Amino acid sequence: MSRILLIGSGGRESAIAYKLRQSPRLTSLHVFPGNGGFPENEVLPPDSFQLKDKESVQKFALQNQYDLVIVGPEDPLVDGVTDWLAEIGIPVFGPSAYCAQVEGSKDFAKSLMKEAKVPTAKYETFADYQSALNYVKGEGAPIVVKADGLAAGKGVTVCFSVQDAEQALKEIFLDQKFGVSGAKVVIEEFMDGQEASIFAISDGERYITLPAAQDHKRAYDGDKGPNTGGMGAYCPAPIATESVLEKVNTLIFDPMFRLFREKGYPYKGLLYAGLMISKEGEPRVVEFNCRFGDPETQCVLSMLDGDLLEICQAAAKGNLSDVEYDILSGASTVVVLAAEGYPESYAKNIPLEIPETGTKDILVFHAGTTKKDGKLVSSGGRILGISSRGKDLLDSVNKVYSYLNKLHIPQTFYRKDIAKKAL
Ligand code: AMP
Ligand code: GLY
Repeated sequence: MSRILLIGSGGRESAIAYKLRQSPRLTSLHVFPGNGGFPENEVLPPDSFQLKDKESVQKFALQNQYDLVIVGPEDPLVDGVTDWLAEIGIPVFGPSAYCAQVEGSKDFAKSLMKEAKVPTAKYETFADYQSALNYVKGEGAPIVVKADGLAAGKGVTVCFSVQDAEQALKEIFLDQKFGVSGAKVVIEEFMDGQEASIFAISDGERYITLPAAQDHKRAYDGDKGPNTGGMGAYCPAPIATESVLEKVNTLIFDPMFRLFREKGYPYKGLLYAGLMISKEGEPRVVEFNCRFGDPETQCVLSMLDGDLLEICQAAAKGNLSDVEYDILSGASTVVVLAAEGYPESYAKNIPLEIPETGTKDILVFHAGTTKKDGKLVSSGGRILGISSRGKDLLDSVNKVYSYLNKLHIPQTFYRKDIAKKAL
């Protein structure tokens, strides 16, 4: 029997929790800090512990004797929450601070990829404005400028002219838009193709992969507007054919996990490969993340016919080979309902009335929601994720949008073209 602590507050954690609740192993689920969609008995009081404070986390986890802690977002992983809990013998689903650098530092990720000979864009790292600019001028456009360090997906600029790149470098070095994380910059070759996200869950030795999803990062229809955390996704993504998936395993996951082991830091937890797949079907890595993707998780987990709690526990304990699971047929889609203005400054405290979906094929996952005086209101840019499973992609897309048509929440918007590329 298992007492679980889930860390996080997004749509991703809502989907993880939904799946955990189906597990016969679950005795109790605590979530911290959670959101307005979690039952009150699951949400821990905000002063339970300080997530950034090692002693506070250790004390709370020991008092509660958790059987497993599942870490949703990247920040606590990069801070070392897994190592803190491992020190006191509490199993964690999520990589160590060393391994989490694969997301925490683009420079670290790129040098590991180079060492493991993983296909990715050519790059150089710079610590000052002038040498970065000289390099950009030498290479020409299109070119991609990335602030090193965590920047909530906002540190990347795809530049179609040298002037755009110059502007991006100015923002990083001169305006210090990303603070200290802008102290270094990775400049990368532009890769053409279609993106896909693939999750591998590893116990340090073995790994399993979940079906590929395609995220929609731009705010508006037709891939227009600013980059966001993700406005919707669908799964499986047909761009990730059998042959692509095989290459992803042999050229990307195998050598990455092998390298982590060789360095003495076996990777345990989820490794998210953000891929660019060329017209010729060659996958290259855009980025790695050290955790489940958001909103991809809200559709990928809908395709999992298996016990997520058992899988996470096995990954944490190193016995993934004992776990049996299946992938369902059909397809799933998630569409994010966002607050007007997102990803820039956006409306908050929007009153939310969320009708029943009437079917378990359509699920409403809360993200930026909270309860104020007993009433549900918005508190974040991405408010809800509407997710559905259908007999095929068209069926799941139709289900999601038929529900969204019934939602009348002021000051919100959503993309109307999620999965369109694959229909
Ligand atoms: P990242 O935060 O590294 O995932 O980058 C955010 C988005 O920028 C990606 O999802 C891609 O759409 C785009 N991007 C990043 N790097 C490249 C690249 N080298 N070539 C083309 N597009 C890129
Ligand atoms: N949806 C992109 C991410 O989770 O990073």
